[in-house]
Amino acid sequence: PLATTAELLARAAADRRGLPAFNVITLEHAEAVAAGAEVAGTPVVLQISQNAVAYHGGRLLPLARACAEIAVACAVPAALHLDHVEDFELLRAAPAAGFSSAMFDASALPHAENVKATAEAAAFAHRHGLHLEAELGRVGGKDGEPPLPAHAPGARTDPAEAADYVAATGVDALAVAVGSSHAMTSRTAALDLELVARLTAAVPVPLVLHGSSGVPDGQLRAAVAAGLVKINIGTALNTAFTPALRTALAELPEAVDPRKVLAPARAAMAATVAQLAAVVALTEGQ
Ligand code: G3H
Ligand code: ZN
Repeated sequence: PLATTAELLARAAADRRGLPAFNVITLEHAEAVAAGAEVAGTPVVLQISQNAVAYHGGRLLPLARACAEIAVACAVPAALHLDHVEDFELLRAAPAAGFSSAMFDASALPHAENVKATAEAAAFAHRHGLHLEAELGRVGGKDGEPPLPAHAPGARTDPAEAADYVAATGVDALAVAVGSSHAMTSRTAALDLELVARLTAAVPVPLVLHGSSGVPDGQLRAAVAAGLVKINIGTALNTAFTPALRTALAELPEAVDPRKVLAPARAAMAATVAQLAAVVALTEGQ
């Protein structure tokens, strides 16, 4: 059934479990996320980024409506989140498009401008019943950004600054830079777990890990144990999907019907979702 991000985050935080949030690019992604979460038996967030909206010609509604229908039909609670929004106009479209939450990303702006823009975004969000996530300290690795090494100076969120930022902006969740980086295709990130614990103690709202595809299972479990709640996973779906698609295309060189090659690629994504959702929600072996 369709749930709100706020209720899923509150429940996950109370249970000290992670809430897996997967990035959706195509309809196949959304179907795989729902199918994988059902296998894992965990609540899930389907998230669409501003970049994914741009891929669909700047149109939010087609994919958002598909995700909403998939969430309604899902056997586990599923919420809709609009991810990495930099364009305020896109944020304005979120409530009517069925999203219960959004991440407003002003992390590339100088600090004072980040605070001002994010406070405005939070005020808008709260007037329209949206839960708002924001980011302090650059996670790095987004399209068009110079690569930022996981341990680069400046790629860490300071706990005292984070507490001030949440108080100044009124955001409901905070994405923090603790050693992960976006778009990693190998799981070699080393999280600063001691910093995670200090951030958890200092910040009164749920913490969000971005760039989780590059984080090994053990580190994900430890990060959740140390207090991270929403765990954003995007690239891992594509590192499952694209090679499976390539294999299917090679095995079926005569295939014309895209379903023949998309079905195994979608199934590969669903398997990855099931595995990672169980790790994040700490339900493996239960
Ligand atoms: O907001 C989305 C996530 O941070 C995804 O990052 O593609 O590196 O897993 P990832
Ligand atoms: Zn992200």
